[in-house]
Amino acid sequence: MTHTTARIAPSLLSADFSRLGEEIRNVVDASADWIHFDVMDNHYVPNLSIGPMVCKALRPHTPVPIDVHLMVEPVDDIIPQFAKAGADIISFHPEASRHPDRTLAHIRDNGCRAGLVFNPATSLSWLDYVMDKLDVVLLMSVNPGFGGQEFIPATLGKLAQARRRIDDWTRQGGHPIALEVDGGVKCDNIAAIRAAGADTFVAGSAIFGHPDYRAIIAAMRAEIARGDTLPQQ
Ligand code: DX5
Ligand code: ZN
Repeated sequence: MTHTTARIAPSLLSADFSRLGEEIRNVVDASADWIHFDVMDNHYVPNLSIGPMVCKALRPHTPVPIDVHLMVEPVDDIIPQFAKAGADIISFHPEASRHPDRTLAHIRDNGCRAGLVFNPATSLSWLDYVMDKLDVVLLMSVNPGFGGQEFIPATLGKLAQARRRIDDWTRQGGHPIALEVDGGVKCDNIAAIRAAGADTFVAGSAIFGHPDYRAIIAAMRAEIARGDTLPQQ
């Protein structure tokens, strides 16, 4: 296995929205690596969540990277707003941008790391010409729009394919690219998800629905370590 990183990125979507600052501090104290920030516009996805103002308000509550997942269309105009609000990583769905190559460059020009998000039915061929322009590949293991959905098993084979593409890229001298998975990630499937090649794990309901954030994140890390001993896909 060529990747040893394992990042846990709790999704705020399942946090208590009446006390988000406290939720962030608690989950970071419990060893979260990134904060996953889901942005929904009731247009690209049928739900409405939080935007740059909330990102700005939460930024002082944590030093860890804020991982913004844009489920919005159009994409470009909101990027500088999130950069100014303190986002570290900004990822978007290529179908939601007229010009994904330009959008990727736009994110880096605004001082953030750039990610492409792949819906369950979206082909990895979007990666063909843009590996040099991205820092994160985010595979959706549910259809975007809601927390608490079931993990789609076909994501495992897709993760293995994405892992191979990223490893080939770095072997040829390319910069590091994170492979993140989002949707339905739980303690009982995270080992298999790791074995398939993920290095960054978004989990919303599994973490915020648990009474003890430290215990659930520790249990997830133990399962990830077990995943490293399983045969690779
Ligand atoms: C879905 C969001 C996810 C979601 C994950 O559109 O992108 O980040 O909050 O929630 P769980 O872990 O509950 O599936
Ligand atoms: Zn997300």
